[in-house]
Amino acid sequence: MKISGSLKILGLCALLLLFATAQAVRAQAAERVIIDTDPGTDDALAILLALRSPELRVEALTVVAGNVTAPVGLGNAMKVVSLANRCDLPVAEGAQRPLHAKLNIEPFWNGPGGLGGAELPPSQCKADPRFGPDLIIELVHKYPHEITIIGVGPETNLALAILKDPTIVPLVKRVILMAGSISGGNVNGAAEFNVYCDPDAADLVFRAGWPVTMVGLDVTEITLISSAQVDQIERSGGAEAKFVAAVARFQVGLYQGTGFSGGAIHDALAVGVAIDPTLVKLRTMHIDVETEGRIARGETVANRLGTVDHVVDKGDHLETVGVDEVKPNAQVAVGIDSERFLKLFITRLSSSGAAIAGGKS
Ligand code: BDR
Ligand code: CA
Repeated sequence: MKISGSLKILGLCALLLLFATAQAVRAQAAERVIIDTDPGTDDALAILLALRSPELRVEALTVVAGNVTAPVGLGNAMKVVSLANRCDLPVAEGAQRPLHAKLNIEPFWNGPGGLGGAELPPSQCKADPRFGPDLIIELVHKYPHEITIIGVGPETNLALAILKDPTIVPLVKRVILMAGSISGGNVNGAAEFNVYCDPDAADLVFRAGWPVTMVGLDVTEITLISSAQVDQIERSGGAEAKFVAAVARFQVGLYQGTGFSGGAIHDALAVGVAIDPTLVKLRTMHIDVETEGRIARGETVANRLGTVDHVVDKGDHLETVGVDEVKPNAQVAVGIDSERFLKLFITRLSSSGAAIAGGKS
């Protein structure tokens, strides 16, 4: 009897050890990511999706001014990590305004408080005292070639990090941006909001020389969540799912009111691509950011051919005498399996679908 009791305890210990090892291996295999964000409705959804995805290990959130001011964004980020019970996660405030442009916040697109009017209890977490771009620099050096930066706000923090310490560029694994569009803007005919806010920063980020994946409006505006899908998340119960549903419902109303058939959840797609790159079809291109211009400031101009005309000035006229190659600097998402992405989003953010996050071990 005594022996069988001890055996049982031994068996239980072995099981626990196996479970702990599996968790550790899982956490190790997960991709280390920093989310640079301006929360922001869809930013909040993106953060929660990342925290519920075992493929990712979120190392930090850095907050940038964009959808809302940086202090409001920091407050929102703190509430979101608190909701997710992740006070262990460093959340650091970054740039208060774009490099040169005037700050452009957008209450119309993000609702009261910046989270679509969705209520969250006060955060139980404490903000990290470091400056966002400095934290990015620190983490990239701590984990050389391991960090993926997911940028879902204006690119100001990323640009400041590069300007302060250009040696981080070759040490970053990849940069996935919810940014830009090669088929028209959402702020105006040309520019997408994040790039429009700080074109000078975006220009630096695209020209830096690190591997950039651009997840722009070309895919985010055709991946729309429906009211029925929002209901499905809400029905799953739990505080997180209820919050996600409230935010997503705000998006549905907002986008339907501006001519779309459902709600865009842009930033969540950048996280989706970090989780599973096969969700999108990527095309290698050279992207230039229009930093001046009368009507196209903030446009991401795509060179699909990989060449520009070689034009020679002949005094009274110009002559095209051939073509010059331009090097690609981005992988641009030009197609998406929207259904598969939304399925992933709904499963992970419904309370029953909560996966064990890669970052919490
Ligand atoms: C982007 O701008 C913001 O409104 C959203 O949070 C997203 O990052 C979409 O253009
Ligand atoms: Ca955003």
